[in-house]
Amino acid sequence: MSASIIDGKALSDTVKADVATRVLALKERGVTPGLAVVLVGEDPASQVYVRNKAAACEKAGLHSRVIRLAGDITEASLLETVRELNADNAIHGILVQLPLPRHMNAARVIETIAANKDVDGFHISNAGLLMTGQPLFRPCTPYGVMKMLESEQVSLWGAEAVVVGASNIVGKPMAMLMLAAGATVTLCNSKTRDLAAQTRRADVLVVATGKPGMVTGDMIKPGATVIDVGINRTEQGKLVGDVDFESASKIAGRITPVPGGVGPMTIAMLLVNTLEAAERSVN
Ligand code: GUN
Repeated sequence: MSASIIDGKALSDTVKADVATRVLALKERGVTPGLAVVLVGEDPASQVYVRNKAAACEKAGLHSRVIRLAGDITEASLLETVRELNADNAIHGILVQLPLPRHMNAARVIETIAANKDVDGFHISNAGLLMTGQPLFRPCTPYGVMKMLESEQVSLWGAEAVVVGASNIVGKPMAMLMLAAGATVTLCNSKTRDLAAQTRRADVLVVATGKPGMVTGDMIKPGATVIDVGINRTEQGKLVGDVDFESASKIAGRITPVPGGVGPMTIAMLLVNTLEAAERSVN
């Protein structure tokens, strides 16, 4: 059997077109949704992500402001920038690109972002709301994965869902969203004993470890839906996921490619979160 490919690029185009329509309606009410992206330092991958986020905003009609700060600025200075953005009425969403330089406390920076502008959904208040079933902002990557599952009509109700990787950005919120959708969720981490025994039970398997090719076909239940959140660059410069696509696609029922899978959805959901923050500001 050969898995069908879940086309994240096509779905993200649909989501972004819907955002563009809603942006126009909001502009008629005199409000242009605005996203501020703060980039500290020179991390090459972060520079690419930030550029892509700003370009996607412009294309959908949102206003974007990229604030580039030197890698050696003090945390106090970054917090001051965040507070200014909190008070700026033209800005509805604030995103501080991670990772931050090591001399900064990322948790403190995130907690300084106004919770109602935290379009990443990383603030403890938004994490708590998600955990208690009253989400305000869902973190963009897991939110995008949920959209993909919905669009593929993959039912989570009563399903076995396994998440590999327990980060605050992806794994933990992913588990919460699938739990809320009725799945029995197993959240694995780097200490999990016999990972394959866990992954083989999954009807829906989400892999977000940052380790290229760590999930192989023999770890997958035949017919399962496999979502690969990883974006890794090989020494040859090729982009690969955390799932070994070659072997996994022979066993899975559905699978996301890298690139063209989860990546484009993350940006699309950032636009959705920013638009909805702006909509809430007028309602
Ligand atoms: N770095 C990697 N992914 C993300 C993300 O979703 N948001 C932010 N702010 N930084 C990131």
